[in-house]
Amino acid sequence: MNNFDQRRRSICVSLLGGLASMAITGVVKAKPTVDEAAKVFRLDGGAVTYAFGVNPDGRLQTVYWGSSLSPADQLSAPVPVPDNSSNEMSITVTPFEFPGFGGGLTVEPALKVTFPDGVRDLDLRYVDHQVSGDRIVVRLKDVSRAVHVTLNYSMDAATGVLSRSAVVENRSADWIQIDQLAAASFNLPYSDDYQLSYLTGRWAGEFALQTRPITPGATVIESRKGVTSHQANPWIAVNRRGTEEESGPVWFGALAWSGSWRISVDMDSLGGLRATAGYNPFDFAYRLKPGERLASPAFHAGFSNEGFGGASRLFHRYQRTRILPGAPTLRPRPVLYNSWEATEFAVDEAGQMVLAEKAASIGVERFVVDDGWFGARNDSRAGLGDWFVNAKKFPNGLAPLIKRANDLGMEFGLWVEPEMVNPNSDLYRAHPDWVIHFPGRARSEARDQLVLNLARKEVYDYLLHALDRLLTSNNIAFLKWDHNRAWSEPGWPAVAPAEQQRLYVAYVDNLYKLLAELRRRHPHIEIESCASGGGRVDLGIMALTDQVWVSDNTDPYDRLLIQDGFSHAYAPAIMMAWVTDAPNFVNQRVTSLEYRFLSAMQGSLGVGANLNHWSSDDFTKAKQLIAAYKVIRPTVQQGNLYRLVSPRGGSARSATLSVAQDGNQAVLFAFLHSGGMRDAQPYIQLRGLDPAKEYTLRMISGSVAPKTPNKASGAYWMGQGIKVSLEGDFQAAAVVLDAL
Ligand code: DGJ
Repeated sequence: MNNFDQRRRSICVSLLGGLASMAITGVVKAKPTVDEAAKVFRLDGGAVTYAFGVNPDGRLQTVYWGSSLSPADQLSAPVPVPDNSSNEMSITVTPFEFPGFGGGLTVEPALKVTFPDGVRDLDLRYVDHQVSGDRIVVRLKDVSRAVHVTLNYSMDAATGVLSRSAVVENRSADWIQIDQLAAASFNLPYSDDYQLSYLTGRWAGEFALQTRPITPGATVIESRKGVTSHQANPWIAVNRRGTEEESGPVWFGALAWSGSWRISVDMDSLGGLRATAGYNPFDFAYRLKPGERLASPAFHAGFSNEGFGGASRLFHRYQRTRILPGAPTLRPRPVLYNSWEATEFAVDEAGQMVLAEKAASIGVERFVVDDGWFGARNDSRAGLGDWFVNAKKFPNGLAPLIKRANDLGMEFGLWVEPEMVNPNSDLYRAHPDWVIHFPGRARSEARDQLVLNLARKEVYDYLLHALDRLLTSNNIAFLKWDHNRAWSEPGWPAVAPAEQQRLYVAYVDNLYKLLAELRRRHPHIEIESCASGGGRVDLGIMALTDQVWVSDNTDPYDRLLIQDGFSHAYAPAIMMAWVTDAPNFVNQRVTSLEYRFLSAMQGSLGVGANLNHWSSDDFTKAKQLIAAYKVIRPTVQQGNLYRLVSPRGGSARSATLSVAQDGNQAVLFAFLHSGGMRDAQPYIQLRGLDPAKEYTLRMISGSVAPKTPNKASGAYWMGQGIKVSLEGDFQAAAVVLDAL
């Protein structure tokens, strides 16, 4: 099985699982339609139509992407945009579905290749197509050389989210080097009022929402780090001027890739907008031998006419029903306890047992031992790679602690960072050549560690064996899978120089394969994707992991901003959030335990505080809030999210509302950063309720204004709203509405 097949298989695991279960639950697949005479292809799903066609030159062009068209609408075959002048040739201003670098193309290509004779001109023309189920497959070929491209299109019937990817095949008798490969190009019609949103960040400051007008020129967001990265996340949204949180058009999408990636959004000189997403061409060169193929990652793209809120609700639904393992029926995320902020590397059997007992007493369902349990791991300088239980810390292995956690009614979870090695480890001493490096050059360390070359079969085999042994010999229900540094010196000296840059793809392929194989062997295991916080959150890893660690920043106010940005792209169902100690280690901010809980209860709740420092009042409060969380959990994790008042832009107040899929429960979280000047308490108008249903109001924490009815219609709560009483600094309230 080559890399292509392996990745297709691992990526398809959850998609196929999803499709199968959707058939069982009766969800209809979106059937594409093809106008065979005009060669126009059309996909309809949710409230969306996407159409493309073959132009008279045989090139594939975008026809339409937006709100659903009538089935009766006749879409004509596309025609190229004529030359505007000798400086704006047709090739460069025509909205192609998958432009090859060639023929004078000066905008972003989807595919660029180099042939052994130095030719770098590629002109892809339509060959044929095939429709099977919800999928359209279109084949293209260069005008004269044996470069074949297969484009895959499928649209989710429920949400209208389109999935696109490409496969390049070398059918020539010599090698072909791929210099650049995207999943797709997406085009939007000419307009001067587009705005781009995207997510940037840094360690402890992930998912900051950026917006900027789109004008002629390019905006490039990317990771060159070998991993998805904190600096930018592979998600974008494009809106028209006037679009708001709950109204107006938004086109959005995300790349399913956990290695170096790039999304380029450029407006050509005539105002045409295209977004191209795929492997990062930075240091990229993938040589295909005769007969070999390279698959792009998939890009998942959607459209909503209901503003940013509508866009993110659609995308959350798509992730829950089509991407995540277990989709479309997700297991609720258990309330977890994690040892990291409490004990850091100083984990041992006695200490963890005490924490486990205390965690169980407040209603925790999963006890997770973080870093420090293995090898000679007493700090960041040693042990990574040696996945054997540290006999000094756990003289009887992990079994007694796991048994105690299980006896207390909790699952047991363990932290691992499989892709890394400390130079001070038995693994590195035995296999110094297993790391990514250039021979004879420095091996730059970060956090005292190097990156194992997971593209190597020996490394893959070692990790599979080590992790499989761990999971086979212990009752482990959950792995927190960390990745704490970016790549450096990306060499792979064990293969020929012309093969070395395959690393960017082969590493991630093997990561996906490893995760898929572990899940296959241990079907009940759940996995969290973590990379020093939110450095590896994307739709690729999401297909193989159940939840993500969003940020090491556990300050509950900073988290409101991080969670707000995160929610634009990713589902609350996977968003882990812990209650930790005050002052917070990141910024020394002091907040109440209620405030910390309410901030974390907007996602999948965890506790990471040092329970040995808690008072009995803290335990009582925590127990009560965790019990309350379990009642609202399905609504918060899998309901529809409305960002009612944004915390961005220095707003003193913020509020979110989660509404259960059946409309029978809604949970409002409201926060005040700091009050002053005797500010009036504003009404918060709710959304997404059934106007005709009656809902009773109850508080989880905080209070509402006097005379607030304790029962009223959905129409009342949406029209009049709720006045939550918040005064002081870092105040919060949580209100539940239950349909009668
Ligand atoms: C980084 C993670 O984000 C933390 O939660 C923790 O697991 C540490 N690594 C452990 O080294």
